[in-house]
Amino acid sequence: MAETHQDTRLLAADAEGIEQAAQFLRQGALVAFPTETVYGLGADACNGEAVARIFAAKDRPQFNPLIVHVADADAAQRYAEWNDLADRLAAVFWPGPLTLVLPLRAGGGLSPLVSAGQPSVALRAPDHPVGAALLAAFGGPIAAPSANPSGRISPTRAAHVVAGLSGRIAGIIDGGACPVGVESTIVGLGDVPTLLRPGGLPAEAIEAALGVSLAAPVAGAALTSPGQLSSHYAPRAGMRLNAREARAGEVLLGFGPEVRGDQTLSASGDLTEAAAQLFDMLHALDAGGAEIIAVAPIPETGLGRAINDRLRRAAAPRGV
Ligand code: TXA
Ligand code: MG
Repeated sequence: MAETHQDTRLLAADAEGIEQAAQFLRQGALVAFPTETVYGLGADACNGEAVARIFAAKDRPQFNPLIVHVADADAAQRYAEWNDLADRLAAVFWPGPLTLVLPLRAGGGLSPLVSAGQPSVALRAPDHPVGAALLAAFGGPIAAPSANPSGRISPTRAAHVVAGLSGRIAGIIDGGACPVGVESTIVGLGDVPTLLRPGGLPAEAIEAALGVSLAAPVAGAALTSPGQLSSHYAPRAGMRLNAREARAGEVLLGFGPEVRGDQTLSASGDLTEAAAQLFDMLHALDAGGAEIIAVAPIPETGLGRAINDRLRRAAAPRGV
């Protein structure tokens, strides 16, 4: 990946280290921090370019949606369409290793890249003094996947994060070993409560609190794990990739100095900016009622791989 090298500061888990980490987040930079499950790689969830940097730092070839970390259920309700089941589970298990997937609330201010353009959002309040202090100091939602390079094991110590991501992120708060050591349990709270990922909180405990058993995920249903369907969340319009100009009846999504479009992902050809704009612009062009959205060629390097992955899915035959 052609990301420029940066000095990664190892920060102490004290007031000064946490304030420095919050400062990095405000600047749109990335900070790894401990939670009770694993170390998270945090970015300001409302800043699209900061969120795009997560995918670049992890060298992830796909935009999968990220968990948004919040202080508590009150904060979560700014970003999700909250419901009674969420209320009950948050009252019993938050803060803790439980992530709730709920319909995204319009106007909440999260970057669409956080939810990979989907109409749902994953939220969790971590139960760790350092994670909680960082959320308080930053004062906003923190998007954070596990702080490991794509395809590697999740980190449970600061040294694991150093080994995997040093030189690619602004800072790492060293808060010692993570007590739970496996990722959070993820529950989808659409029409039917669904276990989307087993994790640090046993499913039985969740079922006991709800008084019903959790369903297994169904491919294609709302709020299931993404990326399983090649054409999920395709725009209504058809798509034509690697286009250098719009044909009759098409709108053009441009990239770089050579292909200016009706919307342009990045006029300068910056892939971080392009990733941050992708879902917003696809939605805007789709809402305009065009029959076909033609998309400029995007280089297959760095974040361009994830952008192209998502564009290919959007262009795949429908109903697959
Ligand atoms: O314990 C954890 O959950 C850790 C710490 C840092 O909080 N985070 C973590 O994040 O494991 P990550 O990115 O490695 O895994 C997030 C999972 C992915 O499998 C993703 O597909 C799912 O959450 N997810 C996120 N948003 C979703 C959504 N809107 N709908 C369905 N699944 C979602
Ligand atoms: Mg992970």
